[in-house]
Amino acid sequence: MIQPSDKMEQESRPTLFDFHGVHMTKYCTDNWENVQNFQAKPNDIFIATYPKAGTTWMSCILDLLLFGRTCPERQESIPIYKRVPFLELCTGFEITGKDFADQLLSTPRLIKTHLPVQFIPKSIWNQNSRIVYVARNAKDSVVSNFHFCRMDSFQVDPGDWSTFLYNFMQGKVVYGSWFDHVNGWWEKKQTHPKILYLFYEDISEGSGREIDRLCSFLGLSPSVEEKQQILTQVQFDKMKKNKMANFSTLPSMDHKVSPFMRKGKVGDWRNQFTVAQNEQFNEVYRQKMKDTTLQFRTML
Ligand code: A3P
Repeated sequence: MIQPSDKMEQESRPTLFDFHGVHMTKYCTDNWENVQNFQAKPNDIFIATYPKAGTTWMSCILDLLLFGRTCPERQESIPIYKRVPFLELCTGFEITGKDFADQLLSTPRLIKTHLPVQFIPKSIWNQNSRIVYVARNAKDSVVSNFHFCRMDSFQVDPGDWSTFLYNFMQGKVVYGSWFDHVNGWWEKKQTHPKILYLFYEDISEGSGREIDRLCSFLGLSPSVEEKQQILTQVQFDKMKKNKMANFSTLPSMDHKVSPFMRKGKVGDWRNQFTVAQNEQFNEVYRQKMKDTTLQFRTML
């Protein structure tokens, strides 16, 4: 019988292609019809992000907030990618993310997606499901993405750092332009009250405060003790060691190349960008972000 890792060796990494104006790979488009026809429920909670914005962090926070008290064993026995299915994922090795979501027994369902706002299945809007969007500053996002693409064989080969950075600025990475993604969701949030738009940097600075915002958005009221427990469990070092949160059980990822839980910091980009790359990036950033009210912090 073929083992996932053997098959992965045989298959080369995916390629990028233009998909309705956004760069994507087959792993996020092969199940397109089914994903577009996904039936959301009014009490579903979606976690939407551009890749590497802290999706797993938010997934663990929400999973603990919703199920930490009633079903604590989940945290010790079910990997986070099974507690929070990845809607559009379709690798051929496991059941699709959409089928995973359909089969979830827990209520409410927590479901993650990296889709840009224009690709979100219609039923999510029609059912008025809640969406937590997490955004992370572009510089830390591109660095995190680069190292992730190196270690995960489901990602396009990133090439060297300067090539990847150039492609990122052009939007030629999976899920397309960071600028379009964060701005598209920001625009939508202005008219859609069921979107809570959070920032990785704010969670890093004050997890307790951001958990309070999540609770008022979701109508939850954890006790002081529960909240304290959540804060402890979602600390970076704790999650890094937790096999149910750190993706160490997935054969596509090689943590010796770069761990999934890599640094978990705001401002780590300064260890990766050269001075010239930073200047060039700032110029592109100014152009692309000139018409938005959206503001990011690249340092705390
Ligand atoms: P780095 O590569 O900068 O370390 P995603 O889950 O969207 O793929 O995002 C992964 C990024 O979030 C990684 O960033 C990872 O280390 C960081 N991350 C995950 N859990 C975290 C936590 N508890 N605290 C801070 N950062 C976390």
